[in-house]
Parts: sequence; structure tokens; C-alpha cells
Amino acid sequence: MRAVWIEEFTGPEGLRLREDLDRPEPGPDEILLRVRASGLNRADLLQSLGRYPAPEGVPDRIPGLECAGEVVAVGSGVRRWRPGDRVMALLSGGGQAEYARVQEALAWPVPEGMSWAEAAAIPEAFLTAWDALIRQAGLRPGESVLIHAVGSGLGLAALQIARLAGARAIYGTASAEKLSRARALGLTAGWDYRQEEFVRALRDREPEGVSVVFDLVGGPYWKANLDVLEPLGRLLLLGTLGGTRLPEGADLGPVLRKRLRILGSVLRTRPLWEKIALGEAFGREVWPLLASGRLRPILDCAFPASEPQAAYRYMAENRNFGKIVLLW
Ligand SMILES: NC(=O)c1ccc[n+]([C@@H]2O[C@H](COP(=O)([O-])OP(=O)(O)OC[C@H]3O[C@@H](n4cnc5c(N)ncnc54)[C@H](OP(=O)(O)O)[C@@H]3O)[C@@H](O)[C@H]2O)c1
Repeated sequence: MRAVWIEEFTGPEGLRLREDLDRPEPGPDEILLRVRASGLNRADLLQSLGRYPAPEGVPDRIPGLECAGEVVAVGSGVRRWRPGDRVMALLSGGGQAEYARVQEALAWPVPEGMSWAEAAAIPEAFLTAWDALIRQAGLRPGESVLIHAVGSGLGLAALQIARLAGARAIYGTASAEKLSRARALGLTAGWDYRQEEFVRALRDREPEGVSVVFDLVGGPYWKANLDVLEPLGRLLLLGTLGGTRLPEGADLGPVLRKRLRILGSVLRTRPLWEKIALGEAFGREVWPLLASGRLRPILDCAFPASEPQAAYRYMAENRNFGKIVLLW
């Protein structure tokens, strides 16, 4: 089969398309997909740079955390899928290939009328954003949210989920053009982090602070995040695009004074039982919103799977607003 292959851990230039790999075999609780589209995530780019190794038991040279395709074989214990079913799926790796093994509970039907590309752009971003905002931070109607890197695949899923959850105001940081596009999707206001300092501008609008910060940037925003959170606010730390180190003079004082909660999370390394429970709840609570069109994947562009270098480079250059997919 064909698959994106990390030949050298040097980023986009170290990738190539291999055509000589064996098809994987599904385990007892797994299905085998003929993949039609694979989502690209920042984690794949980091993996290609050798900065995000695959967990134990997962192919470390074939990236890919999400895909969509047809079921072509099922393991002996599989009850919910049959060959021919059209599904989208969450994986711990190996999703950027023509065939991929998937846990049966981590697959969901492709909603009626949705393209392969759109379906492949759903699982990682929507599971992460919904789990973080709703299950972990307990976002309630009438609260306010600040989303950093709001134009990312994950940020745009968070924006839509916050809006549907009844957030009163949703703020964001991103480069200027992405902010104007995010406004069309319900962003209340936003700041270009390269041009302006957002703390004062946000404070002018929300003197008491915001209820939840959805942070993908990390280290450099530590102080600003604590400054803009209201008492009992929640900081969701989901990515470290700006680095993991805290800046000089980082102060824990506001965490105590404001009784803040700091919640760190990743999906990929969670134990399987936890992912299965999450996947089932996602199917019940979020899938219907995707099927009805109240939530929708924001697709930037699709690349042929034969051009993995171009797709990864496009992401590395921060050119995407929303998701990038590879088509098989
Ligand atoms: N915890 C989890 O389970 C989980 C799951 C999925 C993703 N993530 C994390 O979420 C983040 C976004 O992932 P994604 O796949 O959605 O990314 P993406 O679509 O590639 O978008 C990332 C965007 O972030 C902005 N950015 C890049 N470097 C930045 C920096 N140093 N400071 C501020 N903004 C920066 C860029 O947009 P601008 O044009 O606005 O600069 C870039 O286009 C990554 O850190 C990823 O690891 C975490």
C-alpha cells in the first residue's frame, strides 16, 4: 500500500510517499479502512521533526491521527461496523496511509452529504475542543472565552463549540487575516498577536476577566493568561506552539488569589479505555451536531497524498485557516 513515510526526522523535506508497504491487519476489536482522506495536524509536523514520538505500539514513521474511508475488513470481535460502511476515525498514528487499522469505538459514520475531506478534518479537532471546553472546563451559557491561535484547525472547532454552548463572548488571537475570517464564524473580537498586546484591549471589554482561556501557545502567554482570567476562571493548556518554558518572573500568585484551575490535556497518549469512553460520548453528544450541520469542519485545502512535503510545508508556514487534508 501507499503511505506518507518519515524517511528522516527533519520536517517536511524528510517525508516521502512509499508505495511498497504491507497492508495492516485489523486486531479483534479493530476495523480496516480503505482511507480516502487523512487530516493533517500540528502533531504530525512535530512528529516529522522528531519532536513528538509515536506512543508504544504505533507506527512511528507513518503519521496521521485522523482519517475517513470505507470499512474493508473487520476483526473477529467487531459488532458495530460492516464492510462498505463509510466512517471517520481517530487514531494514535498511521492514518496517512491508503489502509489504516482503527479501534471500532473510535470510528463514527460519515454524516450524510459530507465529503471524505470534510469528514477526515473532524475527529482530532472536534474531540479535543469539545472534551476540553465542555467536559474539562465545564463551559456554561453566558460565560466568556479567549481562544489563542483561533485560526488553527483546533481553534476553529473550539470557536464553534463555544458558540453552540452559549458563550456570551468569544475572543481570539491570531494573525490579522485569520481574525477577520474567524469573525464570520462568530468571533466577538480578536487581536493580532504580532502587532498588539491583547491584555489591555481584552480588559477594556471584560473588566472582570474571561471565564475560560483555551491556550495552544503556552509559555509566552503564561502571565497574560493569568491576568485575563476572572476569579474561578479555567486555563486549558492544550498546545505549546510558543514553547513550554515559562518566562522569567512567572508568578503563581494569581492562581491562588483568583482560585484558578489549570487543566492540561492531550488526546493521543490517553489509555485506550479512556479514549473509548470519550469516543462513545462524542458519538452521542457531538456527532448529531455535525450531522445536522450546526458544527462543521473548516477546511482550508486538500493536497494529493502524493505531495506530503507540500502539505506539511503549507502548515509549517502557518498558511492554513482551519484544516489541511491529504486525498488518497
Ligand atoms: N492537546 C491536544 O489533545 C491537542 C489536539 C490537537 C491539537 N493540539 C495542539 O493545538 C495546536 C494547534 O494545532 P492545529 O493542528 O490545529 O494547528 P494548525 O492548524 O497548524 O494551526 C496553528 C496556527 O497557530 C498559529 N501559530 C503558530 N505558531 C504560533 C506561535 N508561536 N504563537 C502564536 N500562534 C502561532 C499560526 O496561525 P497564525 O497565522 O494565527 O499565526 C498557525 O497557523 C498545536 O499546538 C497542537 O499540538 C493539541
